[in-house]
Amino acid sequence: MIDLIKRLPKAELHLHIEGSLEPELMFRLAKKNQIEIPYKDIEDVRNAYNFTNLQTFLDIYYAGADVLITQDDFYDLTWEYILKCVEDNVIHTEIFFDPQTHTARGVAFETVITGIKRALADAKAQYGITSCIIMCFLRHLSQEEAFETLEQALPFKDDIIGVGLDSSELGNPPSKFKDVFKKAKEEGFKLVAHAGEEADFSYIYEALDLLDISRIDHGVQSIKSDELMQRLKDEQMPLTVCPNSNIELRVFDNYKAHNIKELLDYGLNITINSDDPAYFKGYINQNFINISENLPLTEDDIITLVKNSFRSSFISDELKQQYL
Ligand code: ADE
Ligand code: ZN
Repeated sequence: MIDLIKRLPKAELHLHIEGSLEPELMFRLAKKNQIEIPYKDIEDVRNAYNFTNLQTFLDIYYAGADVLITQDDFYDLTWEYILKCVEDNVIHTEIFFDPQTHTARGVAFETVITGIKRALADAKAQYGITSCIIMCFLRHLSQEEAFETLEQALPFKDDIIGVGLDSSELGNPPSKFKDVFKKAKEEGFKLVAHAGEEADFSYIYEALDLLDISRIDHGVQSIKSDELMQRLKDEQMPLTVCPNSNIELRVFDNYKAHNIKELLDYGLNITINSDDPAYFKGYINQNFINISENLPLTEDDIITLVKNSFRSSFISDELKQQYL
């Protein structure tokens, strides 16, 4: 099984590039940019990665992102992730970034997107890895601020395939961002949103009905509504599930308690992703391995999960045919 997981060419659809910042790079950039970080060494950093919920993670994740300043920093961050893709046989990846995390610190939108884009161009040239970029609005901030971010993205429309919604879910429902998602759609962006990660399934309904998204990030709380499960199945709505993340953020007590096998057996369009791999103990293969070692997944299940990622990706139909 592990051999199959490693061997299969994969697509990743839910990866926050800031969440791929490994402690080693964090230290290197902190030193170079003279940014203070609250850790004395790498071990100290890893010890701090002991989360009790989404917010305890986000606090540490945003503090870590402070070390990213120059275009080269974003290049290096993205390039290191690409090297993990090579290791894990990921041949297509759709990368989230959080522009507001950087623009709020005075780092220009252009600096961020240019650094990421340059690394992705090199990934295509050197390894044939294809990719898309999705920018996320931070949902703990206002819709007004999301509108400002959308405005900043317009000159880079050709580089950004879609918009998403992430950060603190509880208390920040999709309905808060209805108007900005409508505008993003009019501008031609594809739409996704984190929904039903920690918050209840009403957030998933809102994301579907009010934001008109074409993929749900996480969505594991859908299991609490039979009606929603039926709808997700009928529509074959993709769910980008992130097992390691769900365990590290205590959405489920352990891998054996994860509901991914039930979601899959029900006939939902489930995919496996790494979310924030530097913080959640592993990249995509480790996510596959952890669930396959703890749940009764078959080899066919693994193949279905991998195929689902390609069919739910934002690549052209032509490339999709080639990959499938
Ligand atoms: N930002 C980065 N990772 C996230 C997650 N798992 N949920 C919400 N926002 C995030
Ligand atoms: Zn996420």
